[in-house]
Parts: sequence; structure tokens; C-alpha cells
Amino acid sequence: MTMNRRSFVKRAGLGLAGLGAFSASSLKPGTAFADMKHLRSNRQLKILILGGTAFLGPAIVRYARSLGHELTLFTRGKTNVDLFPDIEMLTGDRDGDLEALKGRRWDVCIDTCGYVPRIVTDSARLLAKSVGQYIFISTISVFADFSKKGLNEESEVGVLEDASTEEITGLTYGPLKALCEQAAEREMPGHTTVVRPGLIVGPMDRSDRFTYWPVRIAKGGEVLTPDRPDIVTQFIDVDDLAMFIVHCAERNILGIYNATSPAEEVTMGEIFNTCKTVSGSDAEFTYVSGKFMEEYEVAPWSDMPVYVPLEGSDAGHPYIDVSKALGQGLTFRPISETIRNTLGWWRNEPAERRGKPMKSGLTSEKESELLKKWHDKFD
Ligand SMILES: NC(=O)c1ccc[n+]([C@@H]2O[C@H](COP(=O)([O-])OP(=O)(O)OC[C@H]3O[C@@H](n4cnc5c(N)ncnc54)[C@H](OP(=O)(O)O)[C@@H]3O)[C@@H](O)[C@H]2O)c1
Repeated sequence: MTMNRRSFVKRAGLGLAGLGAFSASSLKPGTAFADMKHLRSNRQLKILILGGTAFLGPAIVRYARSLGHELTLFTRGKTNVDLFPDIEMLTGDRDGDLEALKGRRWDVCIDTCGYVPRIVTDSARLLAKSVGQYIFISTISVFADFSKKGLNEESEVGVLEDASTEEITGLTYGPLKALCEQAAEREMPGHTTVVRPGLIVGPMDRSDRFTYWPVRIAKGGEVLTPDRPDIVTQFIDVDDLAMFIVHCAERNILGIYNATSPAEEVTMGEIFNTCKTVSGSDAEFTYVSGKFMEEYEVAPWSDMPVYVPLEGSDAGHPYIDVSKALGQGLTFRPISETIRNTLGWWRNEPAERRGKPMKSGLTSEKESELLKKWHDKFD
């Protein structure tokens, strides 16, 4: 089975954005919330979040609140409604019902849930006169060609085959986000910030993509892992991303920023070994070949989360250039901290959720079956 980026995208579905890449040791160590304070302005901001209650939103809320900013969240009232009882919640639907936003003023709007340009246009147009800065959370999936290394903010973005579509699929997600970026800038020219994260990881991630590895490796025993532990990857801790977004608000940083870990810093093997060290497990890794994975339909990215063989149209995947964001203060915690935080959160999830198969990775039955086949063939 040959997997190119399009097929990854199809398999991965939405939020696929960061087929990203990264190495614990070279990341700036120990960046806790407080550590960015030397970069802060003293302005206390009124911040509106369109969204705010699923994954990235809560991390932004926690960080902004810890710095004393005043927050308002606008949602449909469906997701984690009781998460922030101390924060103002406005209810509406950004697709057609923005009434609750009328007649109000904020310093900054952070848009975490824009996927369709028409809908982003509506909210940015309505808010153009009542917010000073519009921060749109986009994705690195906007890029047209991942065969190239070193994609930067000037690199070409994908284009929809059907320009009128609003259907979000693995293939339309990136080009639609690119149109959303343009819509925000068109409605608020010179007042827009676009943040393009790679794969976002950490507590509250509903996709189980990165989470699969800490959880599986913590269980111990023989773990099926893709070969090439030296292969690099990129991703961003949700709290590092939240800090950068709030920093952009505080400093009124405008323009487009790729936001994932620096290229060529983290390998898959380093993720596996750090998961083992952090959890203190007895895991043993069995690295199976790409040929075996292909033969038994073990798909990179979905069955082997975070892992992308760097070939063909994916050759440039974990080489996204983040120098522009680094220059504006994007920082990273060590991956051991990300893994510890992810495990800590997972262990506090309801037993019912933890008992269900994870949304990414292999089930234990499938993994055992594959390991047996591997040993039958090669031992
Ligand atoms: N996950 C990744 O790896 C990744 C990678 C790259 C980029 N990204 C981008 O990062 C962002 C992260 O999203 P998130 O889900 O974590 O953000 P979030 O702000 O934590 O959650 C999404 C919020 O949007 C609200 N919402 C959804 N539809 C709405 C509507 N029609 N009207 C009003 N509110 C609505 C939801 O609440 P209700 O349901 O109550 O309305 C929820 O509060 C996305 O823009 C995604 O494209 C993600």
C-alpha cells in the first residue's frame, strides 16, 4: 500500500493539519507559562474567542486568564459547556447567528473555529469595527506541496478544485483554511494575524494522535513501532501554541506565522524513548519495516500516529520553516513535559473513555496479531 499525502489526508480526516515533526534535547528547556513574562506587555486585554472550549481554546483561556486578561467566549453551547464557570459565555452560531456579538467591543478576537471562508468573512466583517486585532487559527495544511522542504509563510497554498465547496474533507480542509486566512485579512486589512500550527498535541486532544504513544508505551510490553526511529517529525504542544497566540495578542504581532516545532529536532525514536522514560514502563520496541506495514495495511499517520515516511509528496513534511515565529518569541517545552502532561490528563479522563479503543493507533488485538505475524516471518 503506497501512502502519499493525499491518502494520508483522506485517512486522517479533519484536523489533520500538522502532519508535523521534532528532538527533545534541543528544544528550549522548561518553558512554563510564567517564563514568557519577560516578553509581555503590561496591557490587560479584553479578548473574545470564537470557540474556546474543546482543545486549543481551553489552553488559550487558561494562559490568558493566568495573565489577568478578561475573556469572553462565543460558542453554540454544545462543547464542554461547564468548563469555565467564571468566564463570560456568549451563545450563538457563527454560521448565521452572530447577534450576541453586536454592540460589544474587545481588543482582540481569536478565531479558533473558522473552517469556511463565508463564515469567517461574516464574523470578521461584523467585528472589524469592534476589535483591534483578529487572530485567525489556521493550519500548515494550507500548503500546496509537501514534497518541498523548508515551506515558509510565502510558500504556495492549496487551491480548491471546486471553488464553491463548503464541504470539509481531508482534501478541502487546507485550501478552505487558506481562503479563510484571506477572508480575515480582507475584512480587517493590516489588523490580522494568521497562526498556522502543525499537529497540536497535549491535554484535551480528542484525536488521540500523539496521545496514542504515551498511553500505549506506558502500558508496557512489546510495542509495535514503525521502522526508521531516526525519522524526524514536527508538532506543537497545545500550551506552547496558546502562549504564542496570547503573546501575539499582547504585542499586537501581525502577519502570518507557521507554528510548529523546529525542523529536524525531534525523531520518532526520541518520542518512543521519552514516553518510556517518563512513564517508567518496561516497553520493548519492535520496529517493523515499511514493507511489512504496507503488506498488512498498517497505515502511517492513522495506525502509526505522528509517523510519516518522508517520501515523494510527503518528503518535505517535517521541514516546515518556523524561523519567523521563533523571531517573534515562539518557544517550546521539552517533549518530556508534553508527554507527562498528556499522560496526566489521560489518566484523569473518565474510565469509560479510557476503556474505549483510541481514535488513532492500533487496537491491542490488532497490535498482538501483527506482532505475531512479524515474529512468524522474521524470527
Ligand atoms: N488539532 C490539530 O492538530 C490542529 C492542527 C493545525 C491546526 N488546527 C486548527 O486549530 C484550531 C483548533 O480547534 P479546537 O477545536 O481545538 O478549538 P477550540 O476553540 O478549543 O474548540 C472549538 C470551539 O468552537 C466552537 N464552535 C464550533 N462550531 C461553532 C459555531 N458554528 N459557532 C460558534 N462556535 C462554534 C465549539 O463550541 P460549541 O461546539 O459549543 O459550539 C468550541 O468551543 C482549528 O482551527 C484547527 O483547524 C488544529
